[in-house]
Amino acid sequence: VIASFQPKRLAGKRVLITAGPTFEPIDPVRGITNLSSGKMGYAIARAAREAGADVCLVSGPTALDTPYGVHRINVQTAQQMHDVVLSRVDGKDIFIAVAAVADWRVANASDQKLKKNSKGDVPQLQFEQNPDILASVAALEKRPYCVGFAAESENLLQYGEEKRKKKGVPLLVGNIGHQTFGKDENELVLFDDKGNQRLPQAGKQALARQLVAEIAARI
Ligand code: CTP
Ligand code: CA
Repeated sequence: VIASFQPKRLAGKRVLITAGPTFEPIDPVRGITNLSSGKMGYAIARAAREAGADVCLVSGPTALDTPYGVHRINVQTAQQMHDVVLSRVDGKDIFIAVAAVADWRVANASDQKLKKNSKGDVPQLQFEQNPDILASVAALEKRPYCVGFAAESENLLQYGEEKRKKKGVPLLVGNIGHQTFGKDENELVLFDDKGNQRLPQAGKQALARQLVAEIAARI
């Protein structure tokens, strides 16, 4: 469907979206990341823009082009993503947390490249927990309508509803199957206070448009 024929369900709305993985440094040339491609978050950014919204996309490292008309801010770490989101959230109507945020960062990251030694010693990494961006936004007094994502490996229907309550968000979107990272197709379940509802398997852009319509109907 051509963009201009999409109904402008989000005209005048301001939307903030996180997408992609984060990258947590170990040293200047190494780090810890995950297999998120950013495709779902970018598809949602594009669909929201097509629906008439003003869209700000806070993105971890991806190989994707910025969707037309979307304002993109690049970050690497979860802490940077948290700080950018919290500095941009004021005045937003909707926050959609699609990013696969690293739960932990390396607490003893090195300023210099780690070197091997002849004894075969291995680095001893220590971890500390990253801030929960979605929970922080959902706890704000002046908060936008918050939408979370969840990729579970099992018990999606139970874990999805539990995660929605734990994060304190009105809408949580579950990826069916944890093999969604990098794929062009997906299948979603939406959890809200009325129960759950499936969006059957389709391309990520088609699903993104359906999700935007579902969000627009709830705000
Ligand atoms: N999220 C976030 N900041 C984090 C971790 C997660 O904003 N530090 C967001 C994700 O973008 C997603 C939602 O929270 O929208 C759920 O992420 P998920 O990893 O499924 O949940 P966690 O609460 O981190 O729990 P766990 O990984 O243990 O299942
Ligand atoms: Ca997590």
